[in-house]
Amino acid sequence: MGELDGVDEVLSRIDRTRVPRHVAFVMDGNGRWAQRYGLPRTHGHAAGEQALFDVVEGALEVGVRWLTVYAFSTENWRRPADEVRFLMNFNRDLLRRRRDELNERGVRVRFLGRRSRRVPPSVLREMDLATELTAKNDRLTLTMAFNYGGRAEIVDAVRALIRDGLAPRAIDEAALQSRLYHPDMPDPDLWQIAYAELVFLDTLWPDVRREHLYRAIVEYQGRDRRFGGVRQWRIENA
Ligand code: IPE
Ligand code: MG
Repeated sequence: MGELDGVDEVLSRIDRTRVPRHVAFVMDGNGRWAQRYGLPRTHGHAAGEQALFDVVEGALEVGVRWLTVYAFSTENWRRPADEVRFLMNFNRDLLRRRRDELNERGVRVRFLGRRSRRVPPSVLREMDLATELTAKNDRLTLTMAFNYGGRAEIVDAVRALIRDGLAPRAIDEAALQSRLYHPDMPDPDLWQIAYAELVFLDTLWPDVRREHLYRAIVEYQGRDRRFGGVRQWRIENA
């Protein structure tokens, strides 16, 4: 079977009535990918661009409405200065190069993370331009987690709760949720957090294509999601 047959075959196995609403990717393995070809790590990041845009096409094709990708974490600042600089420039240039195309495809681009002073102003500017340009699109929301950390987001939400003067007893899940970076974002169905389904790919990010998204969705659809409950209670040996 050829490569394309494989994509079409797995695509045909997706139940279009039960496509996950929100899929998130941890774009990982760029460095290992580059190493495999004897290239500097930064080549792996560059090669990830094609992976990202192919996955975006796949999400559009199957009707995933929310796609989130982890682009830069609050911990990634610990990398060598050269690599951090490359990633900042690369993300800025990618947004500049691709924002019109994303806009034409009906993609709404948003960013998730801390707007700290460490992020160069030129990067923040491209992020704002892409956000503004695509704000009215509603086919797919592509959220780029940039300078994002789950713990940092909780800390920022707690700071907001305190700033808003909430009494400890007034703090519940809804109060916290409403202070997350994007409170309107639905919980990922396919990811790494509470009740999301996890799919681990053996593929390094630069080699990821829409076919991997399709395979992950097929796997997801084959799972029994119980959200902490049990599907059926049967009294054994009663
Ligand atoms: C992910 O790939 C890209 C970023 C975190 C920016 P890595 O750079 O973590 O690649 P590996 O894990 O070293 O292969
Ligand atoms: Mg990694």
